[in-house]
Amino acid sequence: MTPDPSARRAVLAATGLFTPSESISNEELVESFNAWVDVWNEAHAGEIAAGTAEPKAHSSAPFIEKASGIKSRFVMDKAGILDVDRMRPRLPRRADDELNVLAEMGVAACRDALARAGRTAADVDAVIVACSNLQRAYPAVAVEIQDALGVEGWGFDMNVACSSATFGLQVAVDMISNGSADAILVVNPEICTAHLNFRDRDSHFIFGDVATAMLVERGDRAHAGRGAWDILGARIQTRFSNNIRNNAGFLNRTEGTFAELAARTADPETDLLFRQEGRRVFKDVVPMVAKMIVGHMEELGLGVDDVRRLWLHQANLNMNRLIANKVLGRDAEPEEAPVILDRYANTSSAGSVIAFHRHHEDLAAGQVGLLCSFGAGYSAGTVFLRRR
Ligand code: COA
Repeated sequence: MTPDPSARRAVLAATGLFTPSESISNEELVESFNAWVDVWNEAHAGEIAAGTAEPKAHSSAPFIEKASGIKSRFVMDKAGILDVDRMRPRLPRRADDELNVLAEMGVAACRDALARAGRTAADVDAVIVACSNLQRAYPAVAVEIQDALGVEGWGFDMNVACSSATFGLQVAVDMISNGSADAILVVNPEICTAHLNFRDRDSHFIFGDVATAMLVERGDRAHAGRGAWDILGARIQTRFSNNIRNNAGFLNRTEGTFAELAARTADPETDLLFRQEGRRVFKDVVPMVAKMIVGHMEELGLGVDDVRRLWLHQANLNMNRLIANKVLGRDAEPEEAPVILDRYANTSSAGSVIAFHRHHEDLAAGQVGLLCSFGAGYSAGTVFLRRR
């Protein structure tokens, strides 16, 4: 008998979520930022009076909510971020034989996904960690997660910034279709607060921490009745831009001393963290993503009315409204494009997966939704899912 080629077609069996126990409201974040501004302005009062330094301006909670839709964010270490003398999370380095923090978050998300799919580690062949920032160069965090879960097989790390989850999904789908594996966990652990400059008024409110996981498996192996999702199609795209950039990397060590680096860079500390031209990102990425979604829908023969839900990347509420409007030709109803960034902020690659995780149960068999990411690179990914 000829094997059915569609048998290997991958499905999304389940997602998992790890949410940190601590959170910071806009008000708490702004209070800490403004206290730091006051200290800074006082310390530089002479230069400000002489006109050689600009006074720093206060941040504002109403501005943050209006500009981004963010009200609060979950974080791995609240005290370190809000400490005016520090303003960065305190996440001490663990011993090499302890599970590292990124892997620990990833393992929790994987266990959640496995439980929801009715699977154990024995059913999984591979782990792909796809996220914006990796804790170390090697060994791969994915291999550490593989070991902690007890998965036989292999793992590797990949990074496409905010689009890492959809790119990871595309890789998993291709590998399953081609016979490299039968079941793959795609994991997105994001400690965004450790690459955020909490002293930058334009961006100090943007990010939060979280981890998500997606179990992708052969369609003919998926448990009936567990609500798996057919992956109708995945598309990925990149276009080089410096408008979102982070220069942290191992070659910085070869730049010489910190003082030598400082002599060349206005603010070396800031240069090694996230920075962006937010307005330009907005202008460039909205049309790029809307065009990509519409093109992919046409390719799959899907009309606007066929797509019941948009699980969009969660960076900015206004951006998501505009993308939904361009795709649908009207404003989206709240349930059509669910928002999670109000509580989670931008969680980089994990954002669209959290939106899916929290807002998919009500879709019926046969209904279609879109998982969509976009961000640094620029990068964008679209994955159409149909409930089984
Ligand atoms: N509190 C109060 N006011 C602030 C502020 C803060 N924290 N930050 C900036 N402002 C002020 C600015 O000084 C500026 O004042 P001005 O008009 O008097 O010059 C005004 O608010 C507008 O600032 P701007 O930075 O242009 O805001 P914005 O409306 O573009 O919103 C972002 C900023 C970052 C929320 C928005 O550009 C964005 O989300 N862009 C897309 C980002 C994105 O998706 N990035 C992907 C990351 S992965």
